[in-house]
Amino acid sequence: MNELENETIMRVGKGTPTGELLRQYWIPALRSARVEPGRSPVRFRVLGQSFVAWRGADGALGIMDEACPHRGASMAQGIVEADCIRCIYHGWLFSADGHLLEAPTHPATARLDKLPSGARHCYEDGGMVWVWIGDGEPPARPQFAFSGLGDDGIVHATGIVRANWVQMLEGLWDTFHAQILHNRTNRQTFAGTQRLANYFSDKERPNSKMLYDFPDLSVESTEWGLRYQSSDEMKELNYAWIMPWYVHHTVSPDPMDDKAVQIHVPIDDDHTLFWQLMYNRNVPMKPDGFGRKTFGMFPDLNNFRSEYTPENKWLQDRAAQEAGETFTGIATGRGALTILMEDIAIAEGQGWLDRTDESLGATDIVVHRGRKALLDAVESFASGGPALGLAADVSDVEAVFNPKHVQPQQAPVTAG
Ligand code: FES
Ligand SMILES: [Fe+2]
Repeated sequence: MNELENETIMRVGKGTPTGELLRQYWIPALRSARVEPGRSPVRFRVLGQSFVAWRGADGALGIMDEACPHRGASMAQGIVEADCIRCIYHGWLFSADGHLLEAPTHPATARLDKLPSGARHCYEDGGMVWVWIGDGEPPARPQFAFSGLGDDGIVHATGIVRANWVQMLEGLWDTFHAQILHNRTNRQTFAGTQRLANYFSDKERPNSKMLYDFPDLSVESTEWGLRYQSSDEMKELNYAWIMPWYVHHTVSPDPMDDKAVQIHVPIDDDHTLFWQLMYNRNVPMKPDGFGRKTFGMFPDLNNFRSEYTPENKWLQDRAAQEAGETFTGIATGRGALTILMEDIAIAEGQGWLDRTDESLGATDIVVHRGRKALLDAVESFASGGPALGLAADVSDVEAVFNPKHVQPQQAPVTAG
């Protein structure tokens, strides 16, 4: 990858090639629970632009640009009045459905519908707020395997990552790292579960202190992104990257267990909104199932990583490492949160990644293909083609964990 390509995939602002492509898709921007009826508006950023979300007393959701269209006061300072929001500078009043209702700066006879409202299209699904920030009319709402589920079918948490979105995506294309980075954490977190029984073969590699499996990897392009597969002695894992930022990844060999998706939405060039979703469209999610158990351990569902920062070195515990209790030392002993923090610490530690100076190996084939697929999608859109995957049917696309050996039944799967 050359320097220009490296910059191209990482820059997401308005007017950039990747930024313009990403503006064609609906964006999962924040958890619905953050926006409470009649309370202060919530400021958020996506693709380098700032917005506010608010909810009127009637529960209706509104999203608009943070900058008031009159003279740019922050609408995050605005007041929610009934089902409207008022700018505190000169009192412009906006309805949740995007109309300017009052403008004290203008004569009473002024045509308010001729003035901009700053409103953005939005909807909610599965406790997630989706916004569309492109120009003109939005495309159809996306339908994923996790769409349309109620409270007993989907749970999620978000974390703000101080790294570029592509690095988080690359972590999901790079399935092999789980064999090393998360090796110990996986063994500790999932001890006694079906997942672990089907995960490691415990083959010893010569001259290595760590027991791990070396996979065969394959990848194929689809009309919505990439399907890729990792196959080793114990298992075959099938993943799906759906343009532009959705990755279905595997958590359990039991098809009735909760399933997992990660979403990595660029907040700006240097920050990413990390969504971890768990969902189940077969049976209601159980209190001790994968999803609820996992999120029950998270201290803050809106920013699950807030305790661990680059400044405190992600609380990497060198003593626990030396004592052999952990491999990475990062966020030790926090179960699934440890795994997510290990991923975040890697991306943040990489800094602004220079892909012109790497030494890729056999396990990096999907990383290579993912970058190429993203660049190709950006170039195709820039030359007038359709946005990849926007019109594709992804409603049944999921990850699959196929164990290769029938293992004796283990204790129920938990992430605790
Ligand atoms: S800046 Fe908002 S009403 Fe004037
Ligand atoms: Fe990981």
